[in-house]
Order: sequence, then C-alpha cells, then structure tokens
Amino acid sequence: MKDIVEQLEKRRGQARLGGGEKRVAAQHAKGKLTARERIELLLDEGSFEEYDMFVAHRATEFGMAANRPPGDGVVTGWGTVNGRQVYVFSQDFTVLGGSVSETHGQKICKIMDMAMQNGAPVVGINDSGGARIQEGVDSLAAYGEVFQRNIEASGVVPQISMIMGPCAGGAVYSPAMTDFIFMVKDSSYMFVTGPDVVKTVTNEVVTAEELGGASTHTKKSSVADGAFENDVEALSEVRRLIDFLPLSNREKPPVRPFFDSPDRIEESLDTLVPANPNQPYDMKELIGKIADEGDFYEIQKDFAGNIITGFIRLEGQTVGVVANQPMVLAGVLDIDSARKGARFVRFCDCFEIPILSLVDVPGFLPGTAQEYDGVIKHGAKLLFAYGEATVPKVTVITRKAYGGAYVVMASKHLKADVNYAWPTSEIAVMGAKGAVEILHRADLGDAEKIASHTAEYEDRFANPFVAAERGHIDEVIQPHSTRRRVCRAFAALRRKKQDRPWKKHDNIPL
Ligand code: HXC
Repeated sequence: MKDIVEQLEKRRGQARLGGGEKRVAAQHAKGKLTARERIELLLDEGSFEEYDMFVAHRATEFGMAANRPPGDGVVTGWGTVNGRQVYVFSQDFTVLGGSVSETHGQKICKIMDMAMQNGAPVVGINDSGGARIQEGVDSLAAYGEVFQRNIEASGVVPQISMIMGPCAGGAVYSPAMTDFIFMVKDSSYMFVTGPDVVKTVTNEVVTAEELGGASTHTKKSSVADGAFENDVEALSEVRRLIDFLPLSNREKPPVRPFFDSPDRIEESLDTLVPANPNQPYDMKELIGKIADEGDFYEIQKDFAGNIITGFIRLEGQTVGVVANQPMVLAGVLDIDSARKGARFVRFCDCFEIPILSLVDVPGFLPGTAQEYDGVIKHGAKLLFAYGEATVPKVTVITRKAYGGAYVVMASKHLKADVNYAWPTSEIAVMGAKGAVEILHRADLGDAEKIASHTAEYEDRFANPFVAAERGHIDEVIQPHSTRRRVCRAFAALRRKKQDRPWKKHDNIPL
C-alpha cells in the first residue's frame, strides 16, 4: 500500500514539474509565471482542486508517441476566490508550448461543462502556441468544441479570459466570445495572423507588440477590457472583478459588507457642474462620490473615454455604471462609445446587475467618418441594449441630455425605472445655439435678435422642468443628495420583475 501511495506522489510530482526546470526558468526569464503559479495567485490559498492531472495525448505521428507529458499542457480544476467557487484552466507554455491538442481541449471542455452545470464562472488563463501542429485537424476540432461551449456558457456563467502569453490564430476566438479579456503588458499578444503572415500578405512590417499587444487591444481595437503591468497584478485584479459578479445567471450578485452610509451627503456635488455649459468636469468624481467607499472597477478604461463603464457597489450590492464623460469629446456618443456601452449594458442585463446611468451628453458625433462607418447601426446597439435590459435601471441627468442621445441614455421611454435630473439639467432636442440657428435663420445677421432668441430658448428648455412636468423625469434632485436618492431607488427596485414578449432571441443590430 505504502508503495502505491508513494507511486502516486511521484507521478503527481512529475506532472507538477510541467516542462521541466529549464523551460520553467525560460518562462520566468520572460517575466511570466507558470500555469500553476498563476492558479495559486488567482485562487484562495489551498482551495485548488485539480482534475485530469494525468491526462496524456494519444497522438503518435511526428514522434509524439515518445513525448506524452502528464496533463498535456493545461492545468484544470476549480477553487475559490474569496470563498466563492470558480472553475479555471491555465495553459502551461512549458509543455509543448501550451499548444491545444485533442485531449488538452477535452480537459478545458470538461471544466466548462462542470461550470455551466454547477453555476460558477470560468477563468481561462491563455498562454499557448495555438493548435498543436502535430495533431492537425484533431486540434482544430478541439478548439471548435471549446468555442461551442463558450457560446453555450455565454449569459449562463461569467467567462473571463486572461491573456498571459501568445494567443494566435483561431485561438483568439475563444477569448473573444468570453465576457472580459485582460492582457499583461509586454508579455501577451493576440492576433488572427502573426507579423510574418501579415508581411507576406499585405507587405506591412509590424512587430507582434504593435500588431496585437496589450496597448493595441486596449486602446485601438477594444478587443481587450484592461491591461496590467505583470501577472501578479493581473491575477489580483481579476479576483477583485470576480467579487462584483454573480456566480451564474441563476444567482444575484454577491452582497458585501459596507462601511459607508447610504445617506452620505456630498456638498461638493452642488458645484460639480460649471456655470459655463461648455466647460467640462470629471464624471468620475461623481461616480466616486456615489459609490460605497468610492470604489470603482472600471472596464475598458483606455478605450472610448467619452463613455465610462464599470462596477460600483451601493449598500454592498453590485451596480453597473454607464456614464458620459464631459472631459473627453464633450461626452458625445459615437461609434466606439456606443459599442462599448452596449456590450457593458448587455453583460449587466444577462447577470442581473442593476444599471446606473449618469448622463451629460450633447448628442451623437456628426460627420462623414461616423456616417460612413455606420454610426446609425452602432449607435442603435446602445439604444437596443438599454431598451431590452430588464434589470433595475436608474438614471441621473447632470447637465446636457440632447436629442436622440437623451432617448438612448436610459431615458424613461426605454423603460428606465427611476429617472432623476439635477437642477442644472438641459433636456432638449439640441443646444440653444444650434436650435436658434435653425429656427431663426432669417435673423442670423442680427446679433441682438439672436441673443434674445437664445435667451428665450435657454429659459424655456435649458432646464429639467419641462421634462419633469411631463413625468419623463421622476424628480429633480439636489446634487448633494444623489447617493441617497440613487441608493433608495435601487432599494425600491430589488424585487423588480419585467416580462418581455416571447421570442427565440432578439436581433440586435450587429
Ligand atoms: C506544437 C508548439 C506550438 C504548436 C509552440 N510549440 N507552438 N508545438 N504546436 N502550435 C512548441 C515549440 O515547438 C517549442 O517546443 C515550444 O513550444 C516553445 O516554443 P518556442 O517557439 O521555442 O517559443 P517562443 O520562441 O516563445 O515562440 C512562441 C510562439 C511560437 C510565438 C508561440 O512557438 C510559434 O509561432 N508557434 C506556432 C504558432 C502557430 O502558428 N500556431 C498555430 C496557429 S493556428 P520545444 O520542444 O522546441 O521547446 C491555430 C488555429 C486554431 O491556432 C484554429 C481554431 C479554429
């Protein structure tokens, strides 16, 4: 018996060695942790329950019969993050470059199936040379099986992809179908075809970093939702994100202890909006002052800064925030911000996370660039996402809410539940200048008349009271009491139930 136990420990020890000391050292030299070190940092200490440690591939060609490392290049199982269950797979680059074989794929699929059945998120740590070349179509089939599960799990359990090494070829499409993608600066990249193929096909000379590094995907393409300095920071930040999320669509988001009075008054908010309507202010200040302990987890911080998305807690409960940012492009809606906002709203709606919208929007960005690139269709994404969301929706207009953008930003007309406006709000078809130029074209040469028309327009529309008279705004509130009002609004909506007409699924403009 003792021998058998020792044999098990020996085999386990071998599996834990991965690709061996030399390859582990090479991994460390690149500033990367190993698959197992990453799991240790992601999960609560001692909570990892590993499966399939001895799984080996069945390939025989290209000398593979003599090279059958236990675990086959991926470590899988489950553990806890602050006591809550999470499934995880972590590709081991030290074993055959973390490449995906038939059996490697089967290991990933097994834990994804368990995650869906048992209702817990999946965190995928990607560090792989892609499809295992020696296995040909079997490895492509393995990817296909993972893709199908990504699709089935979408909206059932949160899926988070950590890109912590190469992620090339079709391999990028599994992360692409997950809810969040996080990268590590200087050591991870994602592309459909690498720099060599790009050079051959298009003659472009580009480095891997420029083509698909963290900066490219967080600032230009918006494929990734965030980038971190190193593996340690990335894994500790994903733990923080998991704390905001429900385990599945069958559960509510977690309620955390909070040490911040929901009645907290913030006098400084009474002067947040400058007297000059063209002067910007930082919407993040308002978010910080509403949130429990000022804690805000921002998503896509480096992309489309004219809209802010992320998570806060109110009375310990997760709330998704979508806010126009007057500091960037005056907070205008455009293609990028509409896409960013829509994706976030849909995530919140699938996982029963209430949505707080903070509105200061001068309208949609005009111009040929936007029209040619389809601002109509992309802008409609945000409109559609808000209108189909049945989670509690609370909206606060701080200043401008003009035109179509007013309607889009979680207005009453899109079934928002509670709509507040600050006294500084201006809810109208457009700003005074534009309106007067259209309505009084004949007077354009007469500065005095134009000034009088502008004053008349501002007096009539540059306030929240016309909308409040119609009931499109539920109440005009004091800025300093925003946290209290918003907390009470969400508290009143905790048992909200809204039915939608039966349909197979909708057809959001893609
Ligand atoms: C088998 C692979 C491999 C792969 C790497 N290795 N990629 N083995 N299949 N796809 C092995 C290498 O042979 C090497 O083994 C070890 O992993 C480490 O690789 P290195 O090249 O030494 O590492 P590095 O210099 O860091 O370069 C990493 C890399 C490079 C950039 C990822 O290995 C690379 O370009 N690999 C091929 C990438 C690729 O084209 N994959 C297919 C993509 S198509 P030894 O024993 O020498 O240490 C795809 C289709 C998916 O994925 C489709 C889904 C539908």
